[in-house]
Amino acid sequence: MFKALLHLRKVICAGALIWCGLITAGAQPKINAKPVPQLGKNSIKEVIAAMTLQEKALMVIGGGRTGTGIILGDGSMIGRTESRLPGAAGGTNAIPRLGIPAMVLPDGPAGLRIDVKRQGDNKLYYATAFPSATTLASTWDTALVKRVGAAFGNEVLEYGADIILAPGINIHRNPLGGRNFEYYSEDPVVAGNIAAAIIKGFQSNGIGTSIKHFVANNQEANRAGINELITERSLREIYLKAFEIAIKKSQPWTVMSSYNLVNGTHTSERADLLTTVLRDEWGFKGYVMTDWGGKAKNLIAQMNAGNDVIMPGNANQVNRIISAVEHDSLDVKVLDRNVEHILNIIVKSPSFKHYKYSGAPDLKAHAQVSRQAGAEGMVLLENHGNALPLKSSQKNIALLGNASYATIAGGTGSGDVNKVHVISLAGGLTNADFMPEAQLAATYNSYVSDWRKRSRELNIADYQLNTLAAKCDVAVLTIGRNSGETKDRDLDSNYHLKPAELSLIDRTATAFHQQGKKLIIVLNICGPIDTKAWRTKADAILLAWQPGQEAGDAMADVLTGKVNPSGKLATTFTENYEDVPSARDFPGTPAASPEQVAYREGIYVGYRYYDTFNIKPAYEFGYGLSYTTFKISPVKLAAALVKNRLTAQVTITNTGKVAGKEVVQVYVAAPAKSIAKPAQELKDFAKTRLLKPGESQTFTFNIPVASLASFHNDKNAWITDAGQYLLKIGTSSRQIAQTSIFNISATMVTERVHSVLHPPQSVDVYNAQ
Ligand code: BGC
Repeated sequence: MFKALLHLRKVICAGALIWCGLITAGAQPKINAKPVPQLGKNSIKEVIAAMTLQEKALMVIGGGRTGTGIILGDGSMIGRTESRLPGAAGGTNAIPRLGIPAMVLPDGPAGLRIDVKRQGDNKLYYATAFPSATTLASTWDTALVKRVGAAFGNEVLEYGADIILAPGINIHRNPLGGRNFEYYSEDPVVAGNIAAAIIKGFQSNGIGTSIKHFVANNQEANRAGINELITERSLREIYLKAFEIAIKKSQPWTVMSSYNLVNGTHTSERADLLTTVLRDEWGFKGYVMTDWGGKAKNLIAQMNAGNDVIMPGNANQVNRIISAVEHDSLDVKVLDRNVEHILNIIVKSPSFKHYKYSGAPDLKAHAQVSRQAGAEGMVLLENHGNALPLKSSQKNIALLGNASYATIAGGTGSGDVNKVHVISLAGGLTNADFMPEAQLAATYNSYVSDWRKRSRELNIADYQLNTLAAKCDVAVLTIGRNSGETKDRDLDSNYHLKPAELSLIDRTATAFHQQGKKLIIVLNICGPIDTKAWRTKADAILLAWQPGQEAGDAMADVLTGKVNPSGKLATTFTENYEDVPSARDFPGTPAASPEQVAYREGIYVGYRYYDTFNIKPAYEFGYGLSYTTFKISPVKLAAALVKNRLTAQVTITNTGKVAGKEVVQVYVAAPAKSIAKPAQELKDFAKTRLLKPGESQTFTFNIPVASLASFHNDKNAWITDAGQYLLKIGTSSRQIAQTSIFNISATMVTERVHSVLHPPQSVDVYNAQ
């Protein structure tokens, strides 16, 4: 029957036999024929019932790399023919006869990634580069991150797109992960809550999101072919947990499966992951798409798994779907189910609603949001003798380091943004009425104008440093690092400082300290670096991360005290790279070109490992200084659990001399009765408003008993042990201000889940769990 409807024809193209379908079935309804169902007017089921097999196939295959439709062997196109948003990563196909529009899907996590120039159009189409995900997470401010999502999402809407391919939410398993800047944290509670906030902000515009990469895309080395062996417990407690929190709290329209394999199978082919866990256990209601052009080639397995759309999509895949149904290797009911998932989202999209986008979002207003979030994500790591903020008597600055002039807004790859400008630190300080020394600035500006030189520090001779130290009030030296898609960071040249950088820090410190003047180091970096080799030389260290296009202004805001730093580390800086629990297993075996990686550290990722095994980090999870001080009151614990929730209240007071914000962090140490447990885990957090000196704010935390549970592989269940628990409230994982003991009287199975995701062989985890 389908064959009769389809009028398929074969054409020979480039020596290959390609099936090319023409959408003719039903396209010209006969006179008196029943009207063709229309999406929005008829039910989704009726629309699906009216679809030809080819039309269904066109729904589950994306609209090509440019999102402009499927190119057939003869060069013609189906699916969609116009390109409304040049530079968008992809789109879905349109079926005009059924009233189904194409949707446009651009990247990516740090801002809308589109082309600046369009053919035959003189206008320039810039988008705002917001701070990197790691910077946003360091704000620990869900309200602010939601505002970023709202501003960013408005650009998605006003440029005519439907779904933004963001946020990325994979866990920082190892600092060398090339895409960590696109991700939030080593901790699933921070990652999940920050992601939920940005998704709510995005989707408040009536556009959709694609939370990615589901799951465990934690390295770029062989990212599409790496087989990751992970225990169910580590998946459930760490890698899936971040997604679970975000999906339950914010219902993203779509999920993007990852490139990698988990326990022997590509994630896009795992029904247990994409249907059992995602839909049945967590209640996800949107659709799932693959990442772009992955190595998983089994379309039938992907369709059956509930990976609804293959991206970016091509004609060959359309025809393979058609053929699979015709040859009974793919049940048309599966196809119908997946099409239904997609149509459920299309009806919500701006394209379906014929939204009249302006093509001119308010970039000026969004730049201010970017600047604020950039400044609030910065973490003050050291501040000896109140070296910061800069005083008005320190206007003349010896501004050193390539990144002070070629400041890095964000990472590379699909997470890059075509922004109108990047304000350098030199520009930001000048805007704030501070004066980078002119001759030095001219030398640097000319040097970094050749982008190839930027990764090699400009060599400054000792005599120049001595002259600068005599002439200037203070030295500010920026260290820059970048990374991006397809490549992990190099341990020697990216994680560790290069000899030229160490020498510049060393010699600048000597020259300025001899004159009784200070050295401030600014870190404009994508992820943690080594600080052991040099940090004692600095009077202050400001971790500015990659704070977006307004970088220099945001940095100057914090350096000059206009903004009091309130960022906290959402990822640990270890004393040695070798202290990282996955260091032995990253990026897998064989080392030269890894095929498999065992997550032998199990659940002991980040501070869960350092705190349990007494490894002192350089800067711990949750850490960050302020220009003021705070005090946390003793905890008031409610006497009894209400609705299986523990209620704890604290008041925090600004005890210093300037206004500031603080992050209150709630950790719990659980009794390790039935299985081993981390020494403590973050359960909740909150950020104060700007508190004036002497001002207080009270927080009430409601902690569900279910969130105290650990996952038992053998029982497929989350269990909260009976016994004594310690509640710890502080301003970092190691600066605990108040504690309180509470008891759980009976062991509780808080949730039973399906027996899924098992590794094919037992994963040899280091620590009993
Ligand atoms: C990346 C995704 C991105 C997609 C589309 C892939 O290479 O992994 O994060 O959304 O390309 O550009």
